[in-house]
Amino acid sequence: MLRNFFIAFFLATIAVVSLAGFRGLHSAKTPLEIFPDMDHQPKFQPQHPSGFFADGRAARVPVVGTVPMGYELEGAYLQNAASNSKVVKQASGFSSGVDYYSTGRIGDLYGDGLPVEATGELLERGHERFNIFCAPCHSETGDGNGIVKQYGLATVANLQDPRIRTMPDGQIFNTITLGKTTMGSYGGVVAVEDRWAIVAYLRALHRSQNAKLDDVPQDKRAALEKPEPKK
Ligand code: HEC
Repeated sequence: MLRNFFIAFFLATIAVVSLAGFRGLHSAKTPLEIFPDMDHQPKFQPQHPSGFFADGRAARVPVVGTVPMGYELEGAYLQNAASNSKVVKQASGFSSGVDYYSTGRIGDLYGDGLPVEATGELLERGHERFNIFCAPCHSETGDGNGIVKQYGLATVANLQDPRIRTMPDGQIFNTITLGKTTMGSYGGVVAVEDRWAIVAYLRALHRSQNAKLDDVPQDKRAALEKPEPKK
C-alpha cells in the first residue's frame, strides 16, 4: 500500500518537473499556459497601439476638467472644510503631502496634538462630520453601538475604550484616512481639515463621556449632584 503511494508520488514528481522544470531554470521556450485566457485578456493597455481609435493609440486623453486623485491642482475645487486653519490650505483639501498635517505622522511615528486650532467652529464642523461619517457604526457617543450593529456588523470598535482614548491624534487621523482592518478608509471623502475636526470632536466626546464633577464649573455643580438615594 505504502509502496504504491511512493511509486505514484515519484512518478508525479517526475511528471511535474518534466513539465514545469526546476525552480529558477531559464528557458527560451514559450511557457505552458494552463489558462491562456487569463494571460491574454482582450483589453487596452496604456502606451500600446490600437486599431480601434482613429489616432491608433489605446490610451485616451482625460476628459477636459478631470481632476486626478491625489494631486493638487491650482484653482481646483475647494472643499468646504472648516476654514480656521493657520496651516497653508491645500487646493482640493485632499492633500497628498507628507507632513504631519497631511498624514498624522512625523517620520515613522504617529504624532500627537492638533495641527489646527481647536476653535468652536472646528468642533461644530467635527460634530456634524462625525455624525455623518462615523456615527452610523460607532454611534453618536462613539461607544460602538451604531445603527449598523442591528444589521449585523458586530465588531465595531468602542471609541470610548481607554486604548483609543490614549491613542495619539495622528493615529486616529491615520485610521480615518486609511481605515483599519474591517473599517474602510474615509480619506477619499473626508477632506484633511475635516479629519482633524473629527479628531477634535472625538476628543470632546471622550471628555463628555468620562466627565468628573471637577470638570464642571463650581457654580453649576450643585445642579448636577445626585440626590441621596431614598431609603
Ligand atoms: C462602516 C462602519 C464604520 C464607519 C463608518 C467608521 N468606522 Fe471606525 N471602525 C469600524 C470597525 C468595524 C472598527 C474595528 C476595526 C478592527 O479593529 O478590526 C473601527 C475602528 C476604529 C478605530 C480604532 C482603530 C484601531 O486602531 O483599533 C477608530 C479610531 C475609528 N474606527 C474611528 C472612526 C472614525 C473617526 C470614523 C468616522 C470618520 C469611523 N471610524 C467610521 C467601523 C467603522
